[in-house]
Amino acid sequence: MPMRGLKDYFKKAEKEKWAMGQFNVSNLEGLKAVFQAARSLKSPVIVGTSEGEGSYWGLKEISHLVNFLSKEYRFPIFLNLDHGKTFDYIKEAIDAGYPAVHFDGSRMDLKENINKTREIVRYSEKKGVFLEGEVGSILGSSAILDKAPQIRAEDLTRPEDAGLFSQETKVKSLAVSIGNFHGVGKSGDGPKIDLQRLKEIKETVGNLPLVLHGGSGIPEDDLKSAIQLGVVKININTELRSAFTLALREAVSSGEIAPYKYLPETIQAVQKVVEEKIRIFGSINKI
Ligand code: G3H
Ligand code: ZN
Repeated sequence: MPMRGLKDYFKKAEKEKWAMGQFNVSNLEGLKAVFQAARSLKSPVIVGTSEGEGSYWGLKEISHLVNFLSKEYRFPIFLNLDHGKTFDYIKEAIDAGYPAVHFDGSRMDLKENINKTREIVRYSEKKGVFLEGEVGSILGSSAILDKAPQIRAEDLTRPEDAGLFSQETKVKSLAVSIGNFHGVGKSGDGPKIDLQRLKEIKETVGNLPLVLHGGSGIPEDDLKSAIQLGVVKININTELRSAFTLALREAVSSGEIAPYKYLPETIQAVQKVVEEKIRIFGSINKI
């Protein structure tokens, strides 16, 4: 039987009210952690690379690795380019074999964002690649932040803009700004999700799958409510970076110098976070 693609999984997720996790990875330990978590829970999964992560891996290298895992194990693991900001960079990822890409035109005005996205849609469709668009600005960065970013009204996605963007561009999914931000505040100050806005956005975009970025630090109840309102993909990075780094510090403190002896502890720490998110997202046994 042929394996389902991302589009089919999003359709199934929307119908059954669960979400797929996109887990960003910087290194082999992160990739092993995500893959082991997804396999052990029989959950379809997306692996993401930011610009920094992608250049550390090499786009072709990570693309070959993920495609290898998917084929070798006949497992629904998909690679997505996260926050691609230029057409050239997105093209490079598509040409390197990424089956999915995210174009982040959030620093453009709506008209320019629509025009650029349309250009990229033409290329991605020709290559059979899944394209995620973005309307509104998602602030912050995937780190432990001194202070949570100040989100202004104009950063949030306006439902009517989302509706127009979706009609004009025909993207396959849409990232929205509804109080979510990248990173986690030092003092634990997390994002406040505007569920009413999410509901109104969903009403204007119909069956277009919605994506929630900045998943780290969002309380479980808000994640679950967002899924009920049509979010089918949730991106997580900061909590994985943090789990890896804390475990690594601890692991090397013993004085052990053989990486294959201490790195499994970092894999376990990241895997634990991924498994917990998969449980919250409800994607267990959905292959
Ligand atoms: O695009 C990546 C995600 O939105 C990650 O956000 O670092 O807050 O989990 P996060
Ligand atoms: Zn993001």
